[in-house]
Amino acid sequence: MVIALDGHSSSGKSTLAKDLSSLLSVSHIDSGAMYRAITLYFIRHKVDINNKSTVAYALESINISFKVVDGKTVTVLNGSVVESDIRTMEVSDLVSDVAAISSVRRYLVSQQRRLADAQSIIMDGRDIGTVVFPEADVKLFVTASIEVRTQRRYDELKARGVEITIDEVRANLTKRDHIDSTREDSPLKQAEDAILLDTGSLDRSGMIASATKMIHEKMIKNNV
Ligand code: CDP
Repeated sequence: MVIALDGHSSSGKSTLAKDLSSLLSVSHIDSGAMYRAITLYFIRHKVDINNKSTVAYALESINISFKVVDGKTVTVLNGSVVESDIRTMEVSDLVSDVAAISSVRRYLVSQQRRLADAQSIIMDGRDIGTVVFPEADVKLFVTASIEVRTQRRYDELKARGVEITIDEVRANLTKRDHIDSTREDSPLKQAEDAILLDTGSLDRSGMIASATKMIHEKMIKNNV
């Protein structure tokens, strides 16, 4: 079984994916973490993202995996846990430019498909229902207004002790929304057969309640 969760930044899709993963006992893969890990590698190794051959060469040296530490899934880049390093504003500022590079997308999409070969999976991202798994059993497209998403990401960063203003958070989300939905390769868009979930007025339990109801109805309809 494959459940694809796509949508805008801070729409709640990662939280929802984690909650669905424990409720349904299905593995969760955060595909955004993979784009962030590549971005971190490019920053650390000063890879010129405008140079195609440098990017292709760098990709050959990158290995991304996930492991569970204290009950939480964390991202591993070339053997080191990078879960907090990939969530900095420096990475957030560059990640959408990196994710617009076709060779980067090809590299990650094949890894993402392989992850679903041997197991049921919930994957969240931007192109999961449209490109990575067009045949997914259930597709949700998760969104909320820019103000709601900005406040959520601001609260999240503040709780982690990050020094940032609400205007900087809004500017980053707006910039990424624009790059992600206008890029040529695999732009962020709702798949035709995806169910729209607006999380603007939903708290965590409301989100999971709405999503499980939608998934249940879809599975009955699809005979999954
Ligand atoms: O956590 P947040 O919603 O801010 O973003 P994320 O899921 O960590 O994704 C970071 C960035 O990776 C996005 O803004 C996209 O540029 C890119 N991405 C993508 O292009 N395709 C995916 N399947 C997942 C993420």
